[in-house]
Amino acid sequence: MKINSICRSLAIALFGTASALSAGAAEPLKIGMVVPMSGPFATYGKEMMNGAKLYIARNGDTVAGRKIELIVKDDAPGTAGDVSKRLAQELVVKEKVDILAGFALTPSAAAVAPLATEARKPMVIMNAATSMLTTKSNNIVRASFTLPQNTAPIAIWAAKNGIRKVYTLVVDYSPGHDSEAQFKKSFSAAGGEVIGEVRVPIKTTDFSPYLEKIKEAKPDAVFIFVPAGDLAVNFMKGFQERGLSKAGIKIIGPGDLTDEESLDAIGDAAIGIYNSFHYAPGHKSPENKAFTEAYAKAYPNDRVNFMAVGGYDGMHLIYEGLKKTGGSAEPEKFIDAVKGLKWVSPRGPVMIDPATRDIVQTVYIRKVEKVGGKLQNVEFDQMPDFKDPGK
Ligand code: PHB
Repeated sequence: MKINSICRSLAIALFGTASALSAGAAEPLKIGMVVPMSGPFATYGKEMMNGAKLYIARNGDTVAGRKIELIVKDDAPGTAGDVSKRLAQELVVKEKVDILAGFALTPSAAAVAPLATEARKPMVIMNAATSMLTTKSNNIVRASFTLPQNTAPIAIWAAKNGIRKVYTLVVDYSPGHDSEAQFKKSFSAAGGEVIGEVRVPIKTTDFSPYLEKIKEAKPDAVFIFVPAGDLAVNFMKGFQERGLSKAGIKIIGPGDLTDEESLDAIGDAAIGIYNSFHYAPGHKSPENKAFTEAYAKAYPNDRVNFMAVGGYDGMHLIYEGLKKTGGSAEPEKFIDAVKGLKWVSPRGPVMIDPATRDIVQTVYIRKVEKVGGKLQNVEFDQMPDFKDPGK
């Protein structure tokens, strides 16, 4: 009896509070960020959070009357789906977040996708780039890129620019498989030939055995996809040490290899690498100038890169979606609101494809050069309005 009445008064108190909130000031809008903040991919989380926070700093922390709250969960190592899923579940159940966001690596996004459907939460991918991810839940929208999208342009460019024989090397997980498949397809359609291929473990630190084999095969170029960061630095170290560049073998690939965060660690060996990608900090536009200047001011020790833009644009997408729904993150309303959304990102003009919920954007062909004493990806050609060819 006593317990019952306590329960009743508790329920009244709770309902009372809820209705007072919905009648008066709107509740905060909670965004649960699942990103690696420690471990081997800690820089990914830092860069994405830098971008997301910079967007809030530049655009205010209230949208459609709702105060934006970011709640961050470190899903290190970023490649263990069960860890990411458990943390996303905590965000939904304990923190009662309205939107799930972040997701640096594919295994993390893939493991959380079913939860976005079951828990009815919009899920905004700010990096993970395997093509199929957006097909895993109707509540997913992606603000970053896909591997096939960033691979096809360099394959076509290489075939047109005298590269005939290529050996491919990719990391053995789904973004690597995506990239390898798209390269073969686009490069052979444009008249090139893949003369060898190898998939390497994501934990590879010494690339020498693979590089020896590649050298013996005498390709015109190596096509490479490794997730940005240490793998890229280690690959480049081996490439120099094993004399592949002296043997005249070129390097091509999507721009993850020459990400600005790792360019300084790679050093001058990166000069002359041709690659295709959706974002370069040196991109010439007023939007990018304002963005990179604000970034440098906010984070003077970090070089801005594609992960930062993923976080920044992911937040823009959330803000614009909420403006259109009047502050509701109900997945049907929110996803409907962001379909077809267009804006000018620091990377250039972009659009959310209403059919796939993936981003349509310009993919640039770039070459690494030293500009003003600094290694940079210099854009010199482009494929505008380029959709993910992987679906
Ligand atoms: C991914 O796991 O989807 C991923 C990670 C790093 C990249 C690209 C894709 O540079």
